[in-house]
Amino acid sequence: PKPVIIDCDPGHDDAMALMLAVASPELELVAVTTVAGNQTLDKVTANAIRVLDVVQADHIPVAAGADRGLIHTAEAAGEVHGETGLDGPDLPPPSRAPEPLHAVELLAQNLRERPLTLIAIGPLTNIALFIATHPELRGQIEKLVIMGGAIGLGNVTPSAEFNVWADPEAAHRVFTSGLDITMVGLDVTHRAMLSAERADALRETGHAGAVVADLHRFYRQFHEKVYGHSDTPVHDALAVAHVIVPEVITTQQLPVEIDITHGPSRGRTVVDQLGRTGAPANAHVSVDVDAAGFIDLLTGRIASLS
Ligand code: BDR
Ligand code: CA
Repeated sequence: PKPVIIDCDPGHDDAMALMLAVASPELELVAVTTVAGNQTLDKVTANAIRVLDVVQADHIPVAAGADRGLIHTAEAAGEVHGETGLDGPDLPPPSRAPEPLHAVELLAQNLRERPLTLIAIGPLTNIALFIATHPELRGQIEKLVIMGGAIGLGNVTPSAEFNVWADPEAAHRVFTSGLDITMVGLDVTHRAMLSAERADALRETGHAGAVVADLHRFYRQFHEKVYGHSDTPVHDALAVAHVIVPEVITTQQLPVEIDITHGPSRGRTVVDQLGRTGAPANAHVSVDVDAAGFIDLLTGRIASLS
């Protein structure tokens, strides 16, 4: 199996992404790191452990990372994920405390041992800090798969996607790092929706499935309000799915620049599809998705956990 570390801020779709990773024999989830984003660092760290508890993955170390952005600290996404960051299911408190070291150090420890794929599904603060503090280990990052950004519309402002908007300076550092980056953005996540019917059907499959059904029931309320339908994207799980089955997404190598100004486009991923800037490509940008394949993979694997 391919060794991966997931850096996350659970979050409903982060929770499903973690479950998908644990359920997939193609991956070895060696560690989980957390970053403030959908909720405060304490809450998302507790949530990561609570999700691993649901799937009995208490052998996977969890370390907490940045509790704020590099320069500015964004507001949590309470409107989408609720007061706890994981509203909906009735989950017990976490069974354990996080590891007594910073996320960046847990990343370094693991990368010293072997090359890894990093899957970043929250704001990019930890990844930016890691690159800055451990330049000698950057060669050990085989691939960095990011859920974030969009060629088209944003979801938190008209221009910006949440993870990039939450810490644009960190995203800027990451996108200019020269790492092998894949950007799984809203252009594809919004074309691979999980319907209420498919989510509800998971309830019958067992405990993990019932938790996902409860997660979706809460998460879809926001989508009903803003987008007018109960189908929801499962952004973060699509990034994990791409590492399991690369063909689930089609990418193009393109130049991406992060808007770190303070105007209305702050946090936008400016993707130069027409080559107008002459800048070299710095990311594999997702442009198409096998939506049915993704939803079948996600729901099938979650059902297999239960
Ligand atoms: C991203 O923002 C968060 O709310 C989700 O967990 C996902 O990582 C989608 O824009
Ligand atoms: Ca997330």
